[in-house]
Amino acid sequence: MSTLLPAGREPPVPMTPREIVEELDRHVVGQAAAKRAVAVALRNRWRRLGIDEPLRTEITPKNILMIGPTGVGKTEIARRLARLVGAPFLKIEATKFTEVGYVGRDVESIVRDLVETALNAERTAARLRASGSARLRAERRVLAALPPVPPAGPGATEPSERERLARLRRGDYDEVVIDADLSAPSSGLEFPQVPGLEEFSQQFTTLLRTLGPGAGTTRRRLCVAEALPLFEEEELRAESEGGDLPRRAIDRVEQEGIVFLDEIDKIARRAGGGDGGGPDVSREGVQRDLLPLVEGTTVVTRHGPVRTDHILFIASGAFHVARPADLIPELQGRFPIRVTLDPLGEDDFVRILAGTEHALTRQYQALLAREGVSLVFTEDGLRRIAALAVAVNRRTEDIGARRLHTLLERLLEDVSFRAPDLGRTTVTVDAAYAEERLAALAGDLDLSRYIL
Ligand SMILES: Nc1ncnc2c1ncn2[C@@H]1O[C@H](COP(=O)(O)OP(=O)(O)OP(=O)(O)O)[C@@H](O)[C@H]1O
Ligand SMILES: [Mg+2]
Repeated sequence: MSTLLPAGREPPVPMTPREIVEELDRHVVGQAAAKRAVAVALRNRWRRLGIDEPLRTEITPKNILMIGPTGVGKTEIARRLARLVGAPFLKIEATKFTEVGYVGRDVESIVRDLVETALNAERTAARLRASGSARLRAERRVLAALPPVPPAGPGATEPSERERLARLRRGDYDEVVIDADLSAPSSGLEFPQVPGLEEFSQQFTTLLRTLGPGAGTTRRRLCVAEALPLFEEEELRAESEGGDLPRRAIDRVEQEGIVFLDEIDKIARRAGGGDGGGPDVSREGVQRDLLPLVEGTTVVTRHGPVRTDHILFIASGAFHVARPADLIPELQGRFPIRVTLDPLGEDDFVRILAGTEHALTRQYQALLAREGVSLVFTEDGLRRIAALAVAVNRRTEDIGARRLHTLLERLLEDVSFRAPDLGRTTVTVDAAYAEERLAALAGDLDLSRYIL
């Protein structure tokens, strides 16, 4: 079992919980408890990595269950968190899975996907690190392939390597034709992943690669300008492929991986349990399949086995119908941190509309600015929209802040359509503007059900 990071790979000190919350505050309104919980959980990853064995292995993550009505920021917090941390992160709906033995995704694919995500990140980082030296090596290869330059005149010496490099960079050799030895593109042949047969798939792919076209190199006559980028790509690939990248990706997944399991309530047995056997059996089956993953097991991936003991799980659900207590007890026990997200009110809506960094109104402003239309929202206009959203939510179905998306779209439908014809103008959205375009709809139950 590999729980030790290779020497010198202790991650740098990450953000403090306070800093993480501040970062999240820039995008997500309210929901302080949930933000604090994820911030602490993140910081705990780093705290644990500084502890010596054997204690380190004993400290398992405290998984989080986020409970709250629909459209109040559960997924949004996870989304922002993912961008914030450099950790391998995967968001997946629990409803995507079916019980072992049925057609559908098996839960172990979570870990496999997480490894692929981590591997891509490692690859990108490796390419970035290699970019300077790869360029230089590509240039050297071009110089070596250049035909010898006849001395400029009697007594003249051949240009030095440095001089030739400078000429190459100036573009002096761009048109010169050379024999470029390029490794033939890897055949791209890959044996499809068969669940349960990863190791076999991997070996078979390796076999295909050695047999297929693609082994060895090809010689092509190219001008320097064409050859250089090809050499560079080859050098980059050589440095950023293979090696210990898969090992490092797996390490990161094991030590820092985060899985966001959305819609967990949808696989809980309904309260009361009165709704028949069929679908419940399979829901519970998915929970049973998830359990070992959350408790800690080994999943075989094509890059090697992965221990899941220290992967952090954040589950989330509206729990309208089912309650957390309707999850199987073993799973409940694995999500000891419960945070409830608050329903959003009119003040929150105003802030979501205009107070966050990439708020909805800013998005529309930026879009319409492209047409020369400057869109202005007055304070009372924002209030009116927020109040209407609350009203429609109350009367039809409470979809939280999602209501703002539909309301704004409706509100700005006309100006969005006509913007190119309007020329350079200012459109001011005040209470009257909102009232005129939305109030009638919002007041009509049937209409608002369909349109807002
Ligand atoms: N607290 C918030 N701050 C800022 N924006 C929010 C907030 N809550 C919701 N939103 C907005 O509403 C949209 C829906 O929110 P989100 O996807 O987080 O809902 P959810 O809580 O995951 O709901 P569900 O239970 O239906 O999945 C987001 O795209 C975001 O624009
Ligand atoms: Mg969600």
